[in-house]
Amino acid sequence: MPKTFFITTAIDYTNSAPHIGHAYEKILADVIARYRRLKGDNVFFLTGVDQHGQKVQQSAEREGVPPEQFVAGITEQFIALWDKLDVRYDAWAATIDPLHKTCVQGMLQRLFDEGKIYKDKQVGFYSVRQEQFLTDKDRNEAGEFGPEWGEVEQREEENYYFKLAEHKQWLLDFIDARSKAGNPFVVPDFRVGELRNAVEKIGGDRQSGSDRQSGSDLCISRPKSRLSWGIELPFDRDYVNYVWFDALSNYISFIGYDPSRSTINEQPSIFRDKWPALHVIGKDIMIPAHGIYWPIMLHALGFPDEQMPTLLVHGWWNISGAKMSKSLGNVVDPDVLIDKYGVAGLRYYLMSDIVTGKDADFSEERLVERYNADLANSLGNLLNRSLNMTEKYRLGLLSKEPEYATHLQMFMKLEQLPEESGLLKKPEYLPLLDHAASVINCVNGSSREMTEFAIHSALEVSLSIATRCNTLIDRTSPWQLAKSDQTARQLNLVLYHLAESLRIIAILISPVLPKAAHGIFDQLNWKMELSGKEERFRLEDVKWGGLPDGHVVGKPVPLFPRIEG
Ligand code: MSP
Repeated sequence: MPKTFFITTAIDYTNSAPHIGHAYEKILADVIARYRRLKGDNVFFLTGVDQHGQKVQQSAEREGVPPEQFVAGITEQFIALWDKLDVRYDAWAATIDPLHKTCVQGMLQRLFDEGKIYKDKQVGFYSVRQEQFLTDKDRNEAGEFGPEWGEVEQREEENYYFKLAEHKQWLLDFIDARSKAGNPFVVPDFRVGELRNAVEKIGGDRQSGSDRQSGSDLCISRPKSRLSWGIELPFDRDYVNYVWFDALSNYISFIGYDPSRSTINEQPSIFRDKWPALHVIGKDIMIPAHGIYWPIMLHALGFPDEQMPTLLVHGWWNISGAKMSKSLGNVVDPDVLIDKYGVAGLRYYLMSDIVTGKDADFSEERLVERYNADLANSLGNLLNRSLNMTEKYRLGLLSKEPEYATHLQMFMKLEQLPEESGLLKKPEYLPLLDHAASVINCVNGSSREMTEFAIHSALEVSLSIATRCNTLIDRTSPWQLAKSDQTARQLNLVLYHLAESLRIIAILISPVLPKAAHGIFDQLNWKMELSGKEERFRLEDVKWGGLPDGHVVGKPVPLFPRIEG
């Protein structure tokens, strides 16, 4: 059994600059990784860039620079963005890395030696302008290849193919077995049917051209005359490997997979400790790449069924219902948004306004609206009010009122107060008991949602604690309680409940808003020795009552300044 939770994202193409779709996926994986660390798990998070291929070669040619130089520039932009967005990964998969190249060549050689890769001749239509073979899918409504393809000619080309079709039944059985075991291969599982249908079609409609894909076997090469920017085939130096083999293998090559060993047990422990992975990917690359090619490649390499990964397939951010694309000129640049609204604003919006698995519409107004309502007005304001009142009425000192705390514990256990509890006779304590109990409910709800990757729900539940705190303030009117010695204990308790709730909210939101969580802890003057460090937050600390009697909180500093305009 792996000891480490291994999570990956898709590796991003380096033919153009990063956009919010890329940012969403990396933040989603980062949040899941941070949540698992919060739980105390060992986590290994791999992300990176996909640097080879036709598009990169063409873009580099257009700019008149060598492809190495071209990808270095774009790669830098990705790295800088992840840094800025607090995406904390453990390893960087850049496919031009010699380590990756050696591993891919080792895999290809073994599969070739085992007869799982073969050479075949294809005749098809070729677009000279786009330097690619065309398939029937590229024909327009009139059944012709449109002018965008330029001159189209018949060409014959020899290429290498990976045997895909013979594993069709295995893949179907595997997908079904995983669903039956309650551990679906694809999460959310509403996409399992979609994948199954695509697998059923393997070997059906044979496509023309050498780019045929899920139709039958998979073309894995390009002659160097056509494409030189790729990993050379170890058994034929006139060819480079084309696209998916190179890209997908990053998930194992960067964690120490040894291609010369055909069983998992012979793999080095650094690999076995992590594998299998949770792959976070977008819906566009589930079929055929991750849902068909990848499990079949792993199966052909000797990975047993119980060592197959899981796909977490997310939806897309669209713009007014349309796809974001360079040609439509509607690509949203995350850097611009960060400069305008800050990292917390962008991370919060991208995690709270989409249901994992479904699509969402990106809107800057929505980002501002959500930030102002949930972070500035609700949570930020609560922190400010609570610390201000604690400072004003108690010079920052919290009193836990031990007698009440004991009763609260009983209440939590039994979900009601025992008859002998004196508190029953004190209705003024009931809002406090109610509040503490509802916080515990929210904590449980939030954890449940996180486990299901429903980040938006987990956030909603966690932040509902802030709303409840604001209600508690309204119900108890601390400014009234402060007027009389008779209500001193009640005021102590209200202030304690607010600070304690804020401590718990900080822990729960820390995977999404790590800097803000530190901000809250700093202002609560809590765990200062770990300020700025991720270890400051642990899920086991969400239990009610963590702040000790006599703790002195800090002074309030605005945490989420309102976005105006
Ligand atoms: N290089 C391949 C993946 C290889 S993985 C072995 C690729 N790159 S990509 O740059 O085009 O996309 C990277 C990831 O970003 C994909 O998971 C894709 O789904 C995701 N997104 C691209 N645009 C997106 C949105 N508009 N919204 C959300 N995610 C999107 O595919």
